[in-house]
Amino acid sequence: MSSPDFEQFLTTIRTAFDAKTLQRLVLSKYQGDEVSLERISIRPVQIKDEYLLSFLYEYKTNHITKNVNLTEAIAFIQSNLGGDFKNAHLITDDWEIQLSFSKKGKVLVNKHRNKSTPNTQKAKPEKDLQHNQERNRFVEQGRPYLKELGITDAQGNVIPSMSRKWKQINKFIEVLSAAIKNTGIAQRDKVHIADFGSGKAYLTFAVHDYLNDQLGVTTQVTGVELRQNLVDLCNQTASKLCLSDIHFEQGDVKHFAAQNINVMIALHACDTATDYAIHMGIRTGAEIIMCSPCCHKQIRPQLKSPSLLAPVLQHGIHLGQEAEMITDGLRALLLEAHGYDTQVFEFISLEHTSKNKMILAQKRKQPKDSAEILQQISAIKSFYGIQEHCLEKLLQESAA
Ligand SMILES: C[S@@+](CC[C@H](N)C(=O)[O-])C[C@H]1O[C@@H](n2cnc3c(N)ncnc32)[C@H](O)[C@@H]1O
Repeated sequence: MSSPDFEQFLTTIRTAFDAKTLQRLVLSKYQGDEVSLERISIRPVQIKDEYLLSFLYEYKTNHITKNVNLTEAIAFIQSNLGGDFKNAHLITDDWEIQLSFSKKGKVLVNKHRNKSTPNTQKAKPEKDLQHNQERNRFVEQGRPYLKELGITDAQGNVIPSMSRKWKQINKFIEVLSAAIKNTGIAQRDKVHIADFGSGKAYLTFAVHDYLNDQLGVTTQVTGVELRQNLVDLCNQTASKLCLSDIHFEQGDVKHFAAQNINVMIALHACDTATDYAIHMGIRTGAEIIMCSPCCHKQIRPQLKSPSLLAPVLQHGIHLGQEAEMITDGLRALLLEAHGYDTQVFEFISLEHTSKNKMILAQKRKQPKDSAEILQQISAIKSFYGIQEHCLEKLLQESAA
């Protein structure tokens, strides 16, 4: 297909791609031979050092992503738009252009300024994609799994009642992406991820999508969950999305035997399930361990605080906070002592969830003497009269 309007359209795509102002291009009104293909959504992606275009082929029952360079993308559009696809909708920071083809092959153009791009963004044409993503969100609202999990509606808008989950997913991917950069695991041929206590698997699907589709890393994800109904539901979702490298198993983290995990995730796994998950991560040499602990029942009854603090600790809430701090503080120290640089921080503000603490551990590249940390652990335990910390016991048992 060639006409001055069509050539101009292709030039606008090239210019916007080079200036990093291209937001999205959708090829629709498909009339080709593939029975269930509905449309192709195209967006720029940064994969390692390459700036590419990601083609999301949206079929009735599944989606397939292909990442190509600009030359390949233009060649595809040139040979298919006006033929198999009768409509294109291009959105850049500056323009919105609708291109349609009549039955007789006549090109109709509807072009107007993109009023929804903030002026601050337009004033910075040199911005790069990663900055753009940081300013906006780490997860794109149009990703198919979000719709399937009920986070977004058919138009890709976040469903108001799911906005907390949406914020949590974004924050989680933001934290994970920094750890992936630090550890360099995106350079691997394949990355194995285990999510312990995967529940409804919002984050499990998000991690898979981020690594597999956004970073282009072949990713195998296993979700482990106690409740069979959730396992079945999540496996059905994976199969609807045609994701063969994500699966869910019914099981208790405490008895699950995992191997060769690169990223261990346990978000809000109850009580000592977090200790078992961390232990599994350490034992299998995971490069990244991410957990957001939930309920701290083991340490609380063991705590013996100095009598001076009795007036403060007479309030149950303070006892709970103390138990939480000591349980997680010891977890972080144990991770440090076993080869991990560890941070404990607010994962997402309390306004969005009460379970808001994240322990992030990244495997150290150089070994470090752990004698001092082990002494600190022992001193804290004796100060509080703690007889047993689940993670410490598991680590001691596996060392023996
Ligand atoms: C609060 S939900 C969190 C789900 C998910 N990780 C998230 O953050 O959205 C905790 C999940 O962990 C599961 N769970 C608790 N203890 C477990 C254990 N020992 N082994 C496997 N799953 C467990 C529960 O059934 C529940 O679905």
